[in-house]
Amino acid sequence: MSELTTRRLRLRAWREDDLDEWAEMNADPQVREHFPGVLDREASAESLARFQRDLEARGWGWWALEVRATGEFLGMTGLDPVEDGLAFTGVEAGWRLKRAAWGHGYATEAAGAALDFGFTALALPEILAVTTAGNLRSQAVMRRLGMRHDPARDFTDPAVPPGPLSRNVVYGLPRDERRCGPVPRA
Ligand SMILES: CC(C)(COP(=O)(O)OP(=O)(O)OC[C@H]1O[C@@H](n2cnc3c(N)ncnc32)[C@H](O)[C@@H]1OP(=O)(O)O)[C@@H](O)C(=O)NCCC(=O)NCCS
Repeated sequence: MSELTTRRLRLRAWREDDLDEWAEMNADPQVREHFPGVLDREASAESLARFQRDLEARGWGWWALEVRATGEFLGMTGLDPVEDGLAFTGVEAGWRLKRAAWGHGYATEAAGAALDFGFTALALPEILAVTTAGNLRSQAVMRRLGMRHDPARDFTDPAVPPGPLSRNVVYGLPRDERRCGPVPRA
C-alpha cells in the first residue's frame, strides 16, 4: 500500500489507535460545520475501517495524516472516486484536519502529495474537489493547489435538506496544469 511523504507530513495507513483522535475531531462542531452534523464514535470507527479497507484494496484513498517529526495525528487527506449519482464522474481530492492543525499549511501540503500521486501513479487526466458553497477554507485550499472553480459542475445534493449545506461547488485541476513540487506560499 502506498504511503506518501512531504517535507513535514506523512500520509499513511490507518491504525486502530487513531480512533480516539479521529472520533474526537469528528465530534467537534467546528470541524463538522460544513457537514450534516457531528459523528459519534461508532460512525468514526466505521469510516476509519472503510478508509483502511479501501487503502488496502486499491493502494490509495483517504490516508491518515501525521507530522513526520513527532507522529502527531492531524486528520485525513487523500483521493477517492466522486460519489455515485452525480452528473459527472472522476476522482476527487479531500482533506479534514483537527482544529488545532488548521493554519499551518498542512492541508495544502498533504493534498499536493495526493495530487502528484494521482497524476503520476494513477495517470489521472484531471482531479476534482467538491465542497459546500459556504466552505471557504476548503475552497482556499483548492485555489492554493491551483484548482479552478467549474460552475458547470456545481450541484445541489438531494440527500441533504435544502439550505446552506445542500449546495456544492466543484473545482478541477487538469494534469498539465499541476505545478510539481512544493506549492509556493504566496
Ligand atoms: C479545510 C481545512 C482542511 C483547511 O485547513 P487550513 O489549515 O485552513 O488550510 P491550509 O493547510 O492550506 O493552511 C493555510 C493556512 O496556514 C497558514 N500557514 C501557516 N504556516 C504555513 C506554512 N508553513 N505553509 C503554508 N501555509 C502556512 C496560511 O497562511 C493559511 O492561513 P490563513 O487561513 O490564515 O490564510 C480545515 O479548515 C478543515 O479541516 N476543516 C474542516 C473539515 C472540512 O471542512 N474539510 C473539507 C471538506 S470538503
